[in-house]
Amino acid sequence: MKTIHDFSKAKTKSKKITMVTCYDFSFAKILNETSVDTLLVGDSVAQVIHGHDTTLQATTVMMSLHTAAVRRGAADKFIVTDMPFLTTRKGLKAAMDSVEKIMKAGAQAVKIEGADGHLSLIKHIVESGVPVMGHLGLTPQSIHQLGGPKIQGRDSTAAEKILTDAKNLQEAGCFSIVLELIPSHLASQITSLLAIPTIGIGAGAATDGQVLVLQDMLGMNGQFNPKFLKKYAAVESTIQEAIQHYVNDVENLKFPTKDNSYD
Ligand code: KIV
Repeated sequence: MKTIHDFSKAKTKSKKITMVTCYDFSFAKILNETSVDTLLVGDSVAQVIHGHDTTLQATTVMMSLHTAAVRRGAADKFIVTDMPFLTTRKGLKAAMDSVEKIMKAGAQAVKIEGADGHLSLIKHIVESGVPVMGHLGLTPQSIHQLGGPKIQGRDSTAAEKILTDAKNLQEAGCFSIVLELIPSHLASQITSLLAIPTIGIGAGAATDGQVLVLQDMLGMNGQFNPKFLKKYAAVESTIQEAIQHYVNDVENLKFPTKDNSYD
């Protein structure tokens, strides 16, 4: 993916879009050499990298620093960055200041959670030349309002609301929408209704693409095992084994050897 137009082309051709989160230079360099379509500098950085309980602690400074690091490592990838908690709720100037910093750090698009109260702001951002990705279903910035990481849109009223929000986000100019933790049949209905692609996480197989948190899919957190997650590696134990091997070698005088030393 080079531009937002590649997202709509992918939907037209029924080619699935792949996205993973990325927060730092070294992973960005590795991901730049894969065929993954797009990198998301998610506000989950506040949890995964900074160790906070929720995404509420992410700030524009945090998101911009991580975006710049990812951009330096992944020159060839399309980068989307989350607008952090409440930056879209403090008036146009505050929102646009945040968009400016994130885009100047190297993002090609921003992602905004939720539709309520955001439609005219999204229109304004898009009219200002900045692509916007929407995000519906479980919106982690509203975790306290939602009462936890629960599946959204289970009853018909809630499902109808998500469907209407999706149509409104498309109308406002979003080029794509993340659907998080909603029933597969609802994600499927939204995906066929919209002209823009949907990217799912815990939303089943019918969405136009999938997104996962990199550290989760690499198996870097043994305690996190939700149903929607597939672990493609067991990096946590690989790292622990490597470190233990190193510690044993140093303690048993097996490292460094002559080969690792200078005359
Ligand atoms: O911040 C994030 O990682 C996200 C994904 C879960 C879509 O928004």
